[in-house]
Amino acid sequence: MRVYFDNAATTPLSKEVLDSMQPYFENKFGNPSAIHSYGRETRAAIEKSRKTIASILNCSAGEIFFTSGGTEANNMAIQSVINSLNVKNIITSPVEHHCVLHTTEAMEKYDKAKVYSLKVNNKGQIDLQELEKHLQEIEAPVLVSIMHANNEIASRNNLEGIGAVCKKHKAIFHSDTVQTMAHYRFDLQKLPIDLLSGSAHKFHGPKGIGFIYIRDTIKINPFIFGGSQERNMRAGTENVYGIVGLAKAMELNYAQLDETTNYIRNLKNYMIEKLRDEFPEVLFNGDLSDDSLYTVLNISFPYSENASMLLYNLDINAICVSSGSACTSGSEKGSHVLEAIGVGNDRVSIRFSFSKMNTKDEIDFTISKLKELIPVNASSSVST
Ligand SMILES: Cc1ncc(COP(=O)(O)O)c(C=O)c1O
Repeated sequence: MRVYFDNAATTPLSKEVLDSMQPYFENKFGNPSAIHSYGRETRAAIEKSRKTIASILNCSAGEIFFTSGGTEANNMAIQSVINSLNVKNIITSPVEHHCVLHTTEAMEKYDKAKVYSLKVNNKGQIDLQELEKHLQEIEAPVLVSIMHANNEIASRNNLEGIGAVCKKHKAIFHSDTVQTMAHYRFDLQKLPIDLLSGSAHKFHGPKGIGFIYIRDTIKINPFIFGGSQERNMRAGTENVYGIVGLAKAMELNYAQLDETTNYIRNLKNYMIEKLRDEFPEVLFNGDLSDDSLYTVLNISFPYSENASMLLYNLDINAICVSSGSACTSGSEKGSHVLEAIGVGNDRVSIRFSFSKMNTKDEIDFTISKLKELIPVNASSSVST
């Protein structure tokens, strides 16, 4: 048995999604900008996909722009707002994904904007009062970029609350929703948010395709210059099969959202229970509550030789997990998220992340392997 518990890094492609893409690898290969029938066929597929996504999110199709994924969508949101709207101040948090963190850092480095980083609590969430205080003090216009759910520690921020504060102070609100898109419902007629992002490979769609939602009141300049694709906002021949697969994956996920959410949340809770029963020294990083991102569980063990080899030894035992953010795996640097919530170097953290394709049997198998790899110290006390 090979167990895949790294679904926050990427998910397996669903067979139905693959089937929906297949014709666009074969017969339906026209350039969507061409005026002949081949081109019209792929153009129609792109616009149908855009409408599907817009109808799921309750926004207009003209507010959806396809990108190469979440990283590009978040870069586009931040860089375009700074470059187009004379915004000189950004408020963000220290636990953002690197594609937000490093983009805001670059804006500051190149003297385009000043960056204010909010404090986060021990779960990784921002404080609305601190946000409001900053918005009262910082010169408008301000861009607020706060993620919906954290990819490492599962904590979720209150988008309605942040959006309301931003609206009150006329700040532009962007949220990195890459981990929650197709995992939670968004009603963009009600949610006071200006820009958000999605990435297909986080919900059983293909890699290399995503989208940005830009509320029609936000008028920004093109992000990539060239042809007139994506209504002049993002030039380049479209990733047609990716776009078709993205829309199909969104459709499939939202069609079964409640069942899937319950199923995966039960898996997470089952694993928490088993870990508590078997490992008195385990601690849980971030948020565990039913409000937390149900696909992610981050745990730690006290530092020991066995614990330090855990990721490697789990891999040898065919269990695939992550030490933190997938995008930094393989690098020597520790997690900026765990550091921000005060997890010390005296503990070894690992992230399990689940999808609807996982089972309780896989959790049982993983627990039995963990018991072999981290022998429990009988004298240790119970922790939460
Ligand atoms: C929270 C978050 N934002 C952005 C990204 C980047 O998305 P993509 O892989 O599509 O570039 C990721 C991927 O790990 C993520 O978890």
